Amino acid sequence: MLTVDRPRPSDQVVAAAVDEPRLWSMHMDLAAIGATAAGGVCRLALSAEDASARSLLASWAGQAGWRLSVDPIGNLFIRREGAEPSLEPVVTGSHIDTQPTGGRFDGAYGVLAGIEVLRALDDAHVTTRRAIEVAVWTNEEGCRFSPGMMGSEAFAALRPLEKMLEVTDAAGVSVSQALPHVIAATPNASRRALGFPLHAYVEAHIEQGPELERAGRTIGVVTGIQGTCRLRVEVTGEEAHAGTTRRSQRRDALLAAIRMVHAIEQHVEAADPGDDVRLTFGMLKLRPNVPSVVASWAYFSIDLRHSSDEVMLRLAGEIEGICRKHAGGCEVQVTEIQRALATRFKGAAFDAVLAATRSLGYPYMELPSGAGHDARQMACVCPSAMVFVPCAGGISHNEAESATSTDLAAGTRVLARALYELANS
Ligand code: GLV
Ligand code: MN
Ligand code: MN
Repeated sequence: MLTVDRPRPSDQVVAAAVDEPRLWSMHMDLAAIGATAAGGVCRLALSAEDASARSLLASWAGQAGWRLSVDPIGNLFIRREGAEPSLEPVVTGSHIDTQPTGGRFDGAYGVLAGIEVLRALDDAHVTTRRAIEVAVWTNEEGCRFSPGMMGSEAFAALRPLEKMLEVTDAAGVSVSQALPHVIAATPNASRRALGFPLHAYVEAHIEQGPELERAGRTIGVVTGIQGTCRLRVEVTGEEAHAGTTRRSQRRDALLAAIRMVHAIEQHVEAADPGDDVRLTFGMLKLRPNVPSVVASWAYFSIDLRHSSDEVMLRLAGEIEGICRKHAGGCEVQVTEIQRALATRFKGAAFDAVLAATRSLGYPYMELPSGAGHDARQMACVCPSAMVFVPCAGGISHNEAESATSTDLAAGTRVLARALYELANS
């Protein structure tokens, strides 16, 4: 067993060892994998770009002598050993998959901030009591394989692995077919069973909203994550000739879907004078999707979020009735594909983030997260928390997403100090 052979350094020493230019340069190296012409990133889950990004992380881990492991859903863990390896590790991390028109910081920041903390601990020659692991959660975004949060939901046993492996992308490729390619990108990673006991989890992320920038604060201590409910609506009508079929004879799935979307939007607006409900119809698919045939099938997605579970579940429960009312002659099927209730961060991890922020003297505020994060799933298995830093204009899920090197480093110093505390507790 390793022993701690030096006096415990001040927490400030660990935070001070965070190297801002190195952190920024890791972001630029990772952003080059899947870089788009407009300055963003397209690195879809389980794609060739995902595999290349994992192999870059693995090369950094190899140079530093950190151990890698990978589980059956492809979650990758980078472990810096502690003095007492049998203790439950402290885990940080996020995701490296992006939206198709994603930015350079969503997810990447949480993983790279974690790696920078490991580097800072190495540079400061600090041994922590517990190991610290950086988790790279598989398919957080859920755009190629829907729904997302696959890695963290499988890890926390919130959805069965077998169901996730069956999910297919638009080309009919399943998760189980795509996974071996990304797992092969880290040949030195040992295989690990799904889910292991964690002492605590802390995730760093850009805010993805405007509050920190508006308030002139560097750090967001995240109080929780609003609930999310995702539904799929399938409308079935009948194909018909555009030139010969009268209006009265048509069963037009597209028109029915449009009526439903409009009615749901109006219903939510009437029920939500405070503008607090987040309602998104992000995806619409049609068959046969050609100009001169009446659409026989339409699919649209609903992403509904609110900080009150009661409000979210009530609205979600009203959607099917609204769809039926506006189906005309079409059939409609409404399916809930994902539900996550609101999360409140509390306990040791939250306390460590708050104490770290205060002791480093950064201007901060406590705020809830509008976006979903892997930390929500981790909060089901251990004390969990999040650190936010501002992003320009609150813009995210957009190639223009941007954050300053100074803010990224500040959030990483908070993370370093919080992880250091938790890893010695
Ligand atoms: C995560 O990317 C979300 O959609 O909240
Ligand atoms: Mn994210
Ligand atoms: Mn995202």
